[in-house]
Amino acid sequence: MINDPFGSNRRMLLPSILSADFSKLSAEIDEVLGVGADFLHCDVMDGHFVPNISFGPPIIKSIRPRTPAFLDVHLMISDPLRYAAAFVKAGSNCLTFHEEVTSDVAATAREIRKIGAGESAAGVRVGITLNPATPIENIYPALEFVDLVLIMSVVPGFSGQKFMPEVLPKAEAIRKRLGAHQRLEMDGGINLQTIEEGVDVGVDWFVVASAIFDQGDRAGVIGELRAIMGSA
Ligand code: DX5
Ligand code: ZN
Repeated sequence: MINDPFGSNRRMLLPSILSADFSKLSAEIDEVLGVGADFLHCDVMDGHFVPNISFGPPIIKSIRPRTPAFLDVHLMISDPLRYAAAFVKAGSNCLTFHEEVTSDVAATAREIRKIGAGESAAGVRVGITLNPATPIENIYPALEFVDLVLIMSVVPGFSGQKFMPEVLPKAEAIRKRLGAHQRLEMDGGINLQTIEEGVDVGVDWFVVASAIFDQGDRAGVIGELRAIMGSA
């Protein structure tokens, strides 16, 4: 049984496995989930939409039976519709696509919803995201069809980049348009110094890669992040 984070409106902490040591991924996942992380963010990069290449459905498939944690999959890929079914089949629980790869955000959201329907009572959840330079208005037509909006706070492609505070007004604007059943997520450059800025604009889900996995004391940093989030 997968733990569904949409059942709660508590703020959540999502380590991104992009910064984990892939030679011992299972132990890395067990460690962060064992010391207070809520569930996992999986960064999929195709070397085309973003310059980096990370992993695809096989990694999701091998994580799936190892944990009941919700798998939040961020598709930094040029053709999400081509691969959505494979990511659903591998065991993803939420698929988030980028505004920049589609000319019709509403149609893409509806199509992904259709592909993921029937996987559980709620189906696979659908998220939309946008790069820091993309105007927030571009995603408005999709809002009624998504469960989640992800605000990128770095230019996607790599972990360990600097937080871009200029995206905070986008988070504030979208927060006002989301219903109680929808979540606001932020991703990129979040650490002990920056997370509070996200809390202040109403972010629900915080993605953190390097600030957790590059630390020796993961329990310590997760505890401190949670304290600032007010979810200790
Ligand atoms: C950005 C990815 C992020 C990234 C975050 O390309 O979508 O999830 O891994 O990394 P940090 O937390 O190190 O900025
Ligand atoms: Zn991400």
